[in-house]
Amino acid sequence: MAVRIDLPSILLLLFWNAFITSQSFDFVYQGFNGTDNLVLEGATVIKPSGALRLTNKSHDVIGHAFYSNPIPIFNTSTSFSSSFSTYLVFQIVPAGDNKGGYGLAFTLSPSPRFLGGQGGHFLGVLNTSNDGKAENQIFMVEFDTVRGFDENSDTDGNHVGINVNTMKSIASEPASYYIKKTNAKEEVNLESGEPIQAWIDYDGLNKIVNVTISTLSVSKPERPLMSEKVDLSLVMNNKSIYAGFSAATGKKRSSHYILGWSFRLNGIADSLDLPRLPIPPSEKKSSSMNPHVKLALISSFSVLVFFLLVALISFHFYRRMTHYEVLEEWELDCPHRFRYKDLFAATKGFKDSELLGVGGFGAVYKGVLLGSGAEVAVKKISNNSMQGMREFAAEIESLGRLRHKNLVNLQGWCKCKNDLLLVYDYVPNGSLHSLLYSSPKNGTVLTWEQRFNIIKGIAAGLQYLHEEWEQVVIHRDVKSSNVLIDGDMNARLGDFGLARLYDHGKNSYTTTVVGTIGYIAPELSRTGQASTSTDVYAYGVLLLEVACGRPPIVHDPAQGHVILADWVMEYVQSGGVLDAADPELNSIYLVEEIELVLKLGLLCSHPRVEARPTMRQVMRYLNADDLLPAFGDKLSSGDYRRTEESSSGFLNVISTDTIPRSYHSSAVGDISNSSFKSGR
Ligand SMILES: *[C@@H]1O[C@H](CO)[C@@H](O)[C@H](O)[C@H]1NC(C)=O
Ligand SMILES: *[C@@H]1O[C@H](CO)[C@@H](O)[C@H](O)[C@H]1NC(C)=O
Ligand SMILES: *[C@@H]1O[C@H](CO)[C@@H](O)[C@H](O)[C@H]1NC(C)=O
Ligand SMILES: *[C@@H]1O[C@H](CO)[C@@H](O)[C@H](O)[C@H]1NC(C)=O
Ligand SMILES: *[C@@H]1O[C@H](CO)[C@@H](O)[C@H](O)[C@H]1NC(C)=O
Ligand SMILES: *[C@@H]1O[C@H](CO)[C@@H](O)[C@H](O)[C@H]1NC(C)=O
Repeated sequence: MAVRIDLPSILLLLFWNAFITSQSFDFVYQGFNGTDNLVLEGATVIKPSGALRLTNKSHDVIGHAFYSNPIPIFNTSTSFSSSFSTYLVFQIVPAGDNKGGYGLAFTLSPSPRFLGGQGGHFLGVLNTSNDGKAENQIFMVEFDTVRGFDENSDTDGNHVGINVNTMKSIASEPASYYIKKTNAKEEVNLESGEPIQAWIDYDGLNKIVNVTISTLSVSKPERPLMSEKVDLSLVMNNKSIYAGFSAATGKKRSSHYILGWSFRLNGIADSLDLPRLPIPPSEKKSSSMNPHVKLALISSFSVLVFFLLVALISFHFYRRMTHYEVLEEWELDCPHRFRYKDLFAATKGFKDSELLGVGGFGAVYKGVLLGSGAEVAVKKISNNSMQGMREFAAEIESLGRLRHKNLVNLQGWCKCKNDLLLVYDYVPNGSLHSLLYSSPKNGTVLTWEQRFNIIKGIAAGLQYLHEEWEQVVIHRDVKSSNVLIDGDMNARLGDFGLARLYDHGKNSYTTTVVGTIGYIAPELSRTGQASTSTDVYAYGVLLLEVACGRPPIVHDPAQGHVILADWVMEYVQSGGVLDAADPELNSIYLVEEIELVLKLGLLCSHPRVEARPTMRQVMRYLNADDLLPAFGDKLSSGDYRRTEESSSGFLNVISTDTIPRSYHSSAVGDISNSSFKSGR
C-alpha cells in the first residue's frame, strides 16, 4: 500500500516533531583546549595537550568538570524528559603496578558542583551522609575500577554501573562489550592506560538508558553492554540539569582523563575525530610530570642508552681483542679451525674435573662438543710464543688432514692470544705408559698378544707419517705416554708433529732438543736435528719398554743410570734374551715374537743411524715378511754399548713427558729423584 505524502506535509511533520520533543541542544569537545564553557572544580585541569584531567595520581584527590550551562532535558511544565545521547573518550592511567582507583562517573545533577563529595568509592559525588538520599537527584554512569563499595552491587573491580542517588548501582556489568550481536563479550580493561570509548543513550519515551563501551579500535558495538529502565523524570524534576564528570582517588590512585566529549538532546551525539583527540599521556608512572622535566628525562635517558650501547660495543670488541680471537682473513680458509667459545663450552670452561692429564706442552681436557655431542680431547698449550702464526696454521692444517687408524687424529685447532688449543679424538683407555706402569696394577696386565698388536699398530702409524702421506712427517716424540689405547686395545699414536710446531720459527739448527729423555737418539742430542731415523730410534726404545715392562732409564743405587738398551744387550750377549721379558707376562708369550721384538728394539735403537731400519722395514720384520739380520752383523757389542756420555745433551732437552710432572723439574738436573720404577 502506497502512501502519498506531499512535501508541505513532511515539512510540517518535521517541524511538529521538533516542537513537541523540546529544543535541540548539543555540544562537542574534540579535546578541551581553550574552552570556556566548563566549570572545573577540585584537582581538575586542562592539560596543554587538551586533555581534561580530573585527578592526578595523588592520594585522596577529587576533581569535577561540568558543562557550565544547564541542559533542558525537562520540559518543566510537563515533566517529560527528552531523549539524549552522550559520547565520551576517557582514559584511566593507574599509578604504579598496583591497580589504581577509584574511577570516574558521568553525572546529571541539579547543580554544577558536588558539595561535600567524598573521595574513594564515592568518586567525589556523594558522601556517607547523603548517599542514597532521594533529594540528591543525581543520575550517574560510573566507570569504576575498584571493587568493594558494596559487594552485592559492584560485581567486578573493573566494571560499569548505573546509579541513581547512591553509589550502589541499580545495575552493573564487568567492563566489556558484545562482539557484533552475539552473546560473546570482550573484556575492556578500564585501567589499561589506553583511551576507552563510552556511549550513554537515553530513550526518553521508553525510559531506557543504554550504556556501551569499547576500546578505541572498535567502533560502537551494536548491542549495548547495559540496557536499563530508568525514568529520569522520577529522578530529577528540575528545569536546570547539569551534565559533567567526577572522579576521585583514595588509597588507590589513577589519573583520570576525559579526552573528548559530545552531547545531544533528542539525537545522536556527534562522533569524535579520534586521531585528533589529545594525545593520551603515554607514560604510566608520572603523567603529572612537567613536560620540560619529561623532556629532560627522556633526553638524559637517551644519552644514557647511547653511552650504554657504546660501552657494550666497546666491551664486545675488548673481549674479542683480549679473550676472543679476531679472525684474520687467512684463518677463514682453515677448515679445521674451531671457535674458542665452543671449546670453552665443550670443556666446561677448562674445568679441573675435565682434566685428563698435564704434559710438557700443556694440559689436556676432555670435552663434549655441544653440536655433535662428540667426545674430544682438547690440548691447551699455554704461553707459547709461537712466531709466524700463519705458517704455523698452515702446518696445523696439514696435520689436520692426516688420517690413520693408528693415529690420534687431530680434528682441529684454535688459537686464542697466547693459547693454542688442539682438538683430538678422545681415546678412552689412557696411554700405553699408564697401562704398563700403573701401580698398583689393579689386576690388568697387558697380555703379550695385546702388546704385540700395539707394537704393530704404532709401527703402522709411524710408517704412515714417514712414508705414506704426501709429505714426510717426523713425529719427534715417540714414547709410551704418547701412545693411547682405544676401546679395541689398538694403539693410536698421539701428538705427532707437535714438537716441530713447538720450535717453529726458531733456528732449526738450535741445540735445543725437543723430546723425552731415554728416547732421544745420540745424534739428535748432538745436532738437534730430528729425522725419521730419530723416530725409529725412539720406537726401538719403546719396543724394549713394552717387552721388558721397564722404563728407558732406571736409576740403580749400585750401577747409577741404567739404560734399557744396555740392560737388554747384556741378556742378549749372555744368551738368555728371554730373561729380559716382563716378569708380569708370566712367560706367557710366543718366544719367536718376543725375541723378535727385543732384538728389533735393539736394532732400531742402534746408536749408529745407518744401522737402523726404516719403518717400512720394521713392518716387514714384524709381519715376518723378512727375517731379522743375523745378530752379530749390525749389533756388535762395542758399537752398541752406551754410556751416560753418549747420552749427553740432557741439559738442553725440553722434556715433553706427559704423566709424571715431577719428572720434568728433575729431568734437567737430578734424575735420581725421578719417580721411575727401579728394575725388577
Ligand atoms: C513544554 O511543554 C509545553 C506543552 O507541551 C510547551 O508548550 C512548552 O513550550 C514546553 N517548554 C519547553 C521549554 O520546551
Ligand atoms: C595533585 O592535585 C592536588 C590537588 O590539586 C595537589 O594538591 C597535588 O599537589 C597534586 N599532586 C601532584 C603530584 O601534582
Ligand atoms: C592549546 O592552546 C594553547 C593556547 O591556548 C596552544 O598554545 C596549544 O598549542 C594548544 N594545544 C593543542 C594541542 O592544540
Ligand atoms: C555531604 O554532602 C552534603 C552536600 O550534598 C553536605 O551538606 C554534608 O555536609 C556532607 N557530609 C559530609 C559528612 O561530608
Ligand atoms: C537500547 O538498546 C536496545 C537493544 O538492547 C535497542 O533496541 C534500543 O534502540 C537502544 N536505545 C537507544 C536509545 O539507543
Ligand atoms: C531545582 O533546582 C533548583 C536549583 O537550580 C533548586 O533550588 C530546586 O529546589 C530544584 N527543584 C526541585 C524540585 O528539586
